[in-house]
Amino acid sequence: MAERSSVLYPSDISKSPQTEDCTTSNRVFAKNYSSPLLLEEALANSEEAFQFASKALFLRVPRVVSYCKDRLLINFEYMEGWQTITSLIRDYHFLSATTEELRRTFRLVGRALAEYHSASGKIHGDFDSTNVLFKPNEPRICLIDFSRPDFANSSDYCRGSIYRDLALFLVHLRVKYPPHQLHFAFRAMNRTLSKEFLLGYFEVSETKYEFDKLQAEFRACLKIDYLARTFMIRFLSASTIFSIEDLTQ
Ligand SMILES: Nc1ncnc2c1ncn2[C@@H]1O[C@H](COP(=O)(O)OP(=O)(O)O)[C@@H](O)[C@H]1O
Ligand SMILES: [Mg+2]
Repeated sequence: MAERSSVLYPSDISKSPQTEDCTTSNRVFAKNYSSPLLLEEALANSEEAFQFASKALFLRVPRVVSYCKDRLLINFEYMEGWQTITSLIRDYHFLSATTEELRRTFRLVGRALAEYHSASGKIHGDFDSTNVLFKPNEPRICLIDFSRPDFANSSDYCRGSIYRDLALFLVHLRVKYPPHQLHFAFRAMNRTLSKEFLLGYFEVSETKYEFDKLQAEFRACLKIDYLARTFMIRFLSASTIFSIEDLTQ
């Protein structure tokens, strides 16, 4: 829970003695929103998620350090040393992670997501690999960016099927490789890691795995505008990269 004493309210942001503590001594991740409504949604979801994470085993969420509604700004705790899953899947050769470490990380991502779903009764709604952070040797996964994704036009984005989050993450493991790194998308490791992610999720979740639902959401995700325009989906949607038949169980 954000400590109320460190939250800056619009009326006192310029004169509060907390201002310096919050913004200079402790490093923060400052994020701007394009409207008051989007800020409100992100603030409520982020503070709630932080509460859930404080009772969770595998889930971590950055604390809201302060915010200013007038400036449409939220300052989050800076996650020092944490990296996105995107950096891991694209560059893992260069990060010297062992296969065992990679498998463990993806299993943890699944477990952390299952904890978030069951504690919140909601989905994340933009569960892509840039919104999931890991840190070597940490037993938790950090979820960030509880704001409405650009492709959603109502606050319903966090009310969908759990398979939406699972599928979006799996799609992200397969897209956004620049053409010169296409070989990364075809590697067997992507499949192994997809399986670890699902295993982790259904180890912790009380729901039963239903492949048909995953496949339906996976197909729907391939049609989301910003993804459909990627090189991978435009030119390779019929290729084995986007077949998930091996994830039936
Ligand atoms: N609290 C944080 N600490 C450290 N880095 C962060 C934090 N929040 C976000 N980031 C980094 O900034 C990137 C973009 O942040 P995000 O909140 O996802 O914004 P966007 O709405 O642009 O997707 C993330 O992918 C991550 O690399
Ligand atoms: Mg994001």
